[in-house]
Amino acid sequence: MANVIAIDGPSGAGKSSVSRIIAEKLGYLHVDSGALYRIMTWQCLEKGIDTTNPEAVALFAAELQIECRPEAGRIAYYIGGEAPGERIRMPEINAHASEVATVKEVRDKITSLLSAMTESGNLVVEGRDITTAVFPDSPARFYLTASAEARARRRQKEEIEKGIASQSEEDVKASLLKRDQIDSTRKHAPLKKADGAVEVDSSFLTLEETVMAVMDNLPDSWK
Ligand code: DC
Repeated sequence: MANVIAIDGPSGAGKSSVSRIIAEKLGYLHVDSGALYRIMTWQCLEKGIDTTNPEAVALFAAELQIECRPEAGRIAYYIGGEAPGERIRMPEINAHASEVATVKEVRDKITSLLSAMTESGNLVVEGRDITTAVFPDSPARFYLTASAEARARRRQKEEIEKGIASQSEEDVKASLLKRDQIDSTRKHAPLKKADGAVEVDSSFLTLEETVMAVMDNLPDSWK
């Protein structure tokens, strides 16, 4: 049985950086589940599917083939042999991903892709429903959070560094809060802190301190 470290939390809480570092330290595979929802959203937009129409999105999701392959310390994703790259990080995708993620058929499909990844090895999986719905029995479950201001500041810096957008901090914060609201109030697998998950608030922690807060709470035999 593979070990799974499950990390949930709102956008910009630092899940990706923390998950990547822990995966590297332990030799686990890093799994970015949000990227699967982003790929689904990107493909809907490319193919002209109305993301506000759940039936249309469900039909499209049933057909879409996403290849998941272990590669260089992570699970990499391909559509028709092509890696999506930074296209899925654009503000346009941010604006529609939460809608697509409300569709039950999309969630079921992505949950089964994620569940099958344990066949590739030990995992660090980050997302919104990993601790509650995908791997609820993992002994290493974390809810990583931070204030809206800290999250918006980090996301804006990241967007500028990657050269993918130049929104003001206020606009980034508004977009984060809107997504938080949709993610935490949706009917299927909403974002919430799971019973028994360890909460880590990174508002006033450095990245290294946040990583240590998670590592300190892993089962001893995993460290
Ligand atoms: O973590 P992210 O910003 O890349 O996630 C993109 C979207 O996907 C976000 O709106 C929440 C959704 N998501 C989800 O519903 N469940 C997950 N396990 C991961 C992401």
